[in-house]
Amino acid sequence: MPDTTHRAINDLQSYWMPFTANRQFKAAPRMFVSAKGMYYTTEEGREVLDGVSGMWCVNAGHGREQITDAIRQQADQMDYATAFQMGHPLAFELASRLTNMLPGNLDHVFFANSGSEAVDTALKIALAYHRARGEGTRTRFIGRERGYHGVGFGGTAVGGIVNNRKQFGNMLGGVDHLPHTHNLEKNAFSKGQPEWGAALADELERLVALHDASTIAAVIVEPMAGSTGVLVPPVGYLDRLRKICTRHGILLIFDEVITGFGRTGASFGAERFGVQPDLMTMAKGLTNGAVPMSAVATTDTIYDALMDGPTGMIELFHGYTYSAHPLACAAALATLDVYETERLFDRCAELAPYWEEAVHTLSEAKNVIDIRNIGLVAGIELASRDGATGARGYDCFLRCYEKGLLFRQTGDILALAPPLIIEKSEIDHIVDVLGTVINELD
Ligand SMILES: Cc1ncc(COP(=O)(O)O)c(C=O)c1O
Repeated sequence: MPDTTHRAINDLQSYWMPFTANRQFKAAPRMFVSAKGMYYTTEEGREVLDGVSGMWCVNAGHGREQITDAIRQQADQMDYATAFQMGHPLAFELASRLTNMLPGNLDHVFFANSGSEAVDTALKIALAYHRARGEGTRTRFIGRERGYHGVGFGGTAVGGIVNNRKQFGNMLGGVDHLPHTHNLEKNAFSKGQPEWGAALADELERLVALHDASTIAAVIVEPMAGSTGVLVPPVGYLDRLRKICTRHGILLIFDEVITGFGRTGASFGAERFGVQPDLMTMAKGLTNGAVPMSAVATTDTIYDALMDGPTGMIELFHGYTYSAHPLACAAALATLDVYETERLFDRCAELAPYWEEAVHTLSEAKNVIDIRNIGLVAGIELASRDGATGARGYDCFLRCYEKGLLFRQTGDILALAPPLIIEKSEIDHIVDVLGTVINELD
């Protein structure tokens, strides 16, 4: 037996880091020890501008006192309450608050703890809904290439990122994928929504013809694909998906884990792009990243279809120990207050044109082959080095970090999504650092 009792406290080996090159990281660790507003502080005392809102979640900036106070007070009053067959007032208050701000008729909310859980929950609700209506043959899901829907078996199966799939076998069966919408020849350097690509939604008709509508439960897409490198939906694309789903009785799920809570310049992507889903997942910005929490919103039609049978019967055999956790509910309510009082979603919309102009000034920088943007999001795509996809992106990530700027790097794509409290001078700074670093790289 290896002796693990005498490991030094700062031994880096025990922690198996997620989505991280563990050996590379542990050879040269990067540690944050505090965070406030737009900035992290590193172990060495350096400030780093957070260009990606934690991980697309800290939309109101770090260390918001209103949110931490709410968490503290709730921890004092009631740390935990079981969510099965019992309730607590904040859960109901939060659900009502959300349904009031959600677009259209998304009038019911189911709580979970992560984006991945929200996705699996949404997929299961879709299956249960069809079954409750006597259409139990509808078990197939249609995702999209380059989609990211978390790391549960359901989310990985409907997702379309090869590295996230190849280690894990076949996952959920009966899944098919739409083509992604990324096309550099047609759409490179588009500002906002690209003009070309709406017809890619018609591929759904082809899949319906192949599998038959009676086997398809739902289509799941991110309104804007974030994790795969900021793919903004072409004009008219989501609208066409909506129409085809409606025509064939297929549910449309928007995974708004990234696009929710102001990121695109409206409360939700559904609003920004003017298309109404039947189910919507949310997470990240829901609590400003302060406590893990996610949610799935559904229409009356879906909820009512499942509120059937004897009233004493559990309608949906699904839920989590920490569904609607009191600390998460307190954090979410305080977060929604901050968003509202500071009008942060409007602020995002107001800053978006400045952001767009600023990031597109990088179009002349070395090796930049595309820049895309929407709201306070940008994706900057660098040409890959021969035989070394991702190496240039990683070098850029590291050098920017050394110069005090953090963003998210996916292969050779740099994804930026700063907190919605960002100042114009900080936007200029981000672009300055990026421009310098990109031009220095071979
Ligand atoms: C669109 C989308 N769905 C789901 C997830 C998974 O969320 P989590 O990491 O909280 O499980 C993410 C995370 O980035 C996401 O961007």
